[in-house]
Amino acid sequence: MMTIARYRVAGARSFSTASGVSTVGVIGLGLMGHGIAQAAAEKGYKVVAVELEERFLQGGLKRIGDSVKKITSKAVEKGKMDKAVGDAHIASTMARITATTDRGALASCDVIIEAVIENLQLKQTLYGEIGRVVKDSCIIASNTSSLSIGTMAGYCGRPAQMIGLHFFNPVQMMKLVEVVRTDQTDPKIFARAMEFSRSLDKTPVECIDTPGFIVNRLLVPYLTSAMLLVERGVATPADVDTAMKLGAGHPMGPMALADYVGLDTCLSIIGGWQSAFPDEPAFKVPESLRAKVAAGKLGRKTGEGFWKWDGDKLAA
Ligand code: 3HC
Repeated sequence: MMTIARYRVAGARSFSTASGVSTVGVIGLGLMGHGIAQAAAEKGYKVVAVELEERFLQGGLKRIGDSVKKITSKAVEKGKMDKAVGDAHIASTMARITATTDRGALASCDVIIEAVIENLQLKQTLYGEIGRVVKDSCIIASNTSSLSIGTMAGYCGRPAQMIGLHFFNPVQMMKLVEVVRTDQTDPKIFARAMEFSRSLDKTPVECIDTPGFIVNRLLVPYLTSAMLLVERGVATPADVDTAMKLGAGHPMGPMALADYVGLDTCLSIIGGWQSAFPDEPAFKVPESLRAKVAAGKLGRKTGEGFWKWDGDKLAA
């Protein structure tokens, strides 16, 4: 039986080594990657954060710093943590992150989570490099929302080590991780990935390598159905969102959630599926979605989509 060692770190957090992970590599510090790096560092893991350019690294680190300060100051305000412990937690979290543009640094990692943009050409080159530098025991994971894990396994040439670890936005708050296996994934790698996800205080669910896995396969057609409903003049975006919040108990309505996820991301997912499965009616691409993306109104990240945004919140 495997022994589970637990380490205490500042802020009374702990992590398990049953997964055999002590160093986590995160490639890409954007919307998802910064949250994944933060979640791992807050739990006591050493993190190697890799970006293409120094300015992206600095942007990602700032985002992590702001978020960890926000979470910690809330915990202090609520009396869940002493101010001194909170300050130490912020400092130790940031100190655990090594930021670099050198992909060779991934050689020391026990798990690598790729969270770069959904561009297969870029991923092909990247996975080729990953395959050359990683350890034989390294869990190689993609946070892709809709691309095939099997395709990336082929690019890196290490299919037994390859899985999907699909986190949700905002990673700091969302409790789910979809753990995705292909026919070639080594069951030991899969079991370690499940344990690693639990050690981040997330709930993992198992899924096979299929378009959209579980959540996006159900969620993205729901978001685009809401857009189509608005296009048909059934209701306004505001009333659709109010209806789903108050009538179905969702934390956000679908129009706001599409903006929150990013309309370019929604279009890339549904557009890709429509091309691959042209007879599937659930994969119809709304004209309003195409128009918003063409106009550069990508949702929260550009300050406007179906709604206007003020930072992370809907504008008043
Ligand atoms: N860092 C730190 N804290 C954060 C944060 C961040 N990035 N984002 C939110 N928070 C904290 C806030 O500070 C706040 O803390 P408090 O409760 O202690 O005051 C708490 O989260 C709640 O935030 P808000 O008060 O701003 O607003 P809400 O109560 O509405 O919660 C939400 C925000 C958690 C985003 C909630 O609206 C929600 O769950 N929305 C649905 C999100 C969702 O469905 N995500 C999945 C998208 S699909 C996806 O990611 C897959 C991809 O592949 C496309």
